[in-house]
Amino acid sequence: MSQTESTRPRPSWLFPEYTPVGTDLSSPTAVASYDRNQGTDSAADDALLNRLGVTAGTSFVDLGCGTGSLVVQAARRGAEAYGVDVSEEMLAHAQDRAQRFGVTPHWHRAGFLDYVHCAAPADVVTTKSALHQLPDFWKQQALLNAAAMLRPGGTLYVWDVMFSFDPTEAEDHLQRWIDSASRPQGEGFTRANFESHVRDEFSTYTWVLEGMIEQAGLAIVSHSFPRSTHGEFVCRKRLPTTSA
Ligand SMILES: C[S@@+](CC[C@H](N)C(=O)[O-])C[C@H]1O[C@@H](n2cnc3c(N)ncnc32)[C@H](O)[C@@H]1O
Repeated sequence: MSQTESTRPRPSWLFPEYTPVGTDLSSPTAVASYDRNQGTDSAADDALLNRLGVTAGTSFVDLGCGTGSLVVQAARRGAEAYGVDVSEEMLAHAQDRAQRFGVTPHWHRAGFLDYVHCAAPADVVTTKSALHQLPDFWKQQALLNAAAMLRPGGTLYVWDVMFSFDPTEAEDHLQRWIDSASRPQGEGFTRANFESHVRDEFSTYTWVLEGMIEQAGLAIVSHSFPRSTHGEFVCRKRLPTTSA
């Protein structure tokens, strides 16, 4: 199994998406402990794939796929599955997982901004806990790229750290999240990791994301913000309008 690069040219003004922001999850140590820290759970991945209607033959792309659990579970049910990530280490781990389960998804070392989907348009594109790696201007470009790889009517799913609290209460909500989620070193993501997320990464408000999703030619089918710091959007690519 190999990783391929299908990328568009990278002009020098392009955001350097291959340079980690915040906590570097791409080091060998970080990758080795990632699934434990993140709580990777193939049953939860299966539940999400069920919700999104991913079955045998579905063309499925996961952007920022990390250690590849969602992609491997999609491939195990017969989907034509693509895992895209900027991190070679993450992709190596994902390939090992695929090999263990005897499936052969397509792996691409590429980013939100430069990945080119050189295959039939996707039915479902997902991105979990990764879009916040880009500043807002670049999130918009990433959403346009995700929309471009979808067939009309296809589904985009976004889960991430995103903020639905009143901006005047930001400090309270962020501090509560950091205090409740932090674990001792060796048992999960640490206080320093969460502090770095807030300080150095680019999580944004849900209403900012809503505008970007609409601008990318997608309609929001549903959203859920189970915590004031986390949420999801399920979106559908709009059908082309026909002139009378
Ligand atoms: C927190 S992990 C999430 C991994 C996986 N989606 C999950 O839910 O466990 C973020 C992933 O996004 C990747 N990443 C960061 N910036 C990226 C970019 N611009 N394009 C694609 N992947 C990116 C990182 O290498 C990392 O694997």
